[in-house]
Amino acid sequence: VRRITVPQIRARKGGEPIVSLTSYHAHTAAIVDRYADFILVGDSLGMVMHGMESTVGVPLDLMVMHGRAVVRGTKRALVVVDMPFGTYEESPAMAFRNAAHIMKETQCGAVKLEGGARMGETIRFLTERGIPVMAHIGLTPQSSHVMGGFKTQGRDEETWPLHEEDARVVAEAGAFAVVLEGMVEPLAARITGQVAIPTIGIGASAACDGQILVLEDMLGLNPNRPPKFVKVYGQLGAMIEEAVKAYAEEVRSRAFPGEDQVYR
Ligand code: KIV
Ligand code: NA
Repeated sequence: VRRITVPQIRARKGGEPIVSLTSYHAHTAAIVDRYADFILVGDSLGMVMHGMESTVGVPLDLMVMHGRAVVRGTKRALVVVDMPFGTYEESPAMAFRNAAHIMKETQCGAVKLEGGARMGETIRFLTERGIPVMAHIGLTPQSSHVMGGFKTQGRDEETWPLHEEDARVVAEAGAFAVVLEGMVEPLAARITGQVAIPTIGIGASAACDGQILVLEDMLGLNPNRPPKFVKVYGQLGAMIEEAVKAYAEEVRSRAFPGEDQVYR
């Protein structure tokens, strides 16, 4: 195996921070591949690539298609593919069937699913049968309809034991890492100190064992105001706008195509 492996990610607990970004697309994934330890084909692609209002409507086929694109476009990073809503919650057997489908069709190295204590049995079932699982707790977007939106978790200290229990159960069930999304900083730091597997923060804490962001958010491509936890490292939205505007003007003035772009 030339790619970074699941045990290599797991062994990074408490060490050099794990770098991760999402990607859904071969050409951007090839760039991310040179810097990230793992690439997540997140179900956020439903919103980012397909304009959906939430991740709830993302079908399995779409994850497979984007998963394939990212695996083909990369050679170094571990590729993790999200299991979409409705494909794993019902039973461990159902989760195995769909996770195996994702792995066989995409050749990715692991899957990710949302949920803490309630997913323990499923995480164990998959891991024991050859499917590495990354867990995802705290703000879990697939449950946004129950939570009444995207709500930062752990604002009330009385809820902390529930989140700590989620982290403990997924780690003991065999998850090789756990995403901590949208939770107050001291809770994320505390969980990181309590579990033996790497925590990957997004809207969590600098104390986490790694960080992840949605690529389009950190590139300034989100037309809506991105959440507070996003740091924008590039203004690609503005760059694309300028380029498209210049092209439109040159087509209208017949400046494009010029001498260099035609066959004589
Ligand atoms: O779908 C996604 O992009 C994710 C990350 C935000 C962790 O699950
Ligand atoms: Na996701």
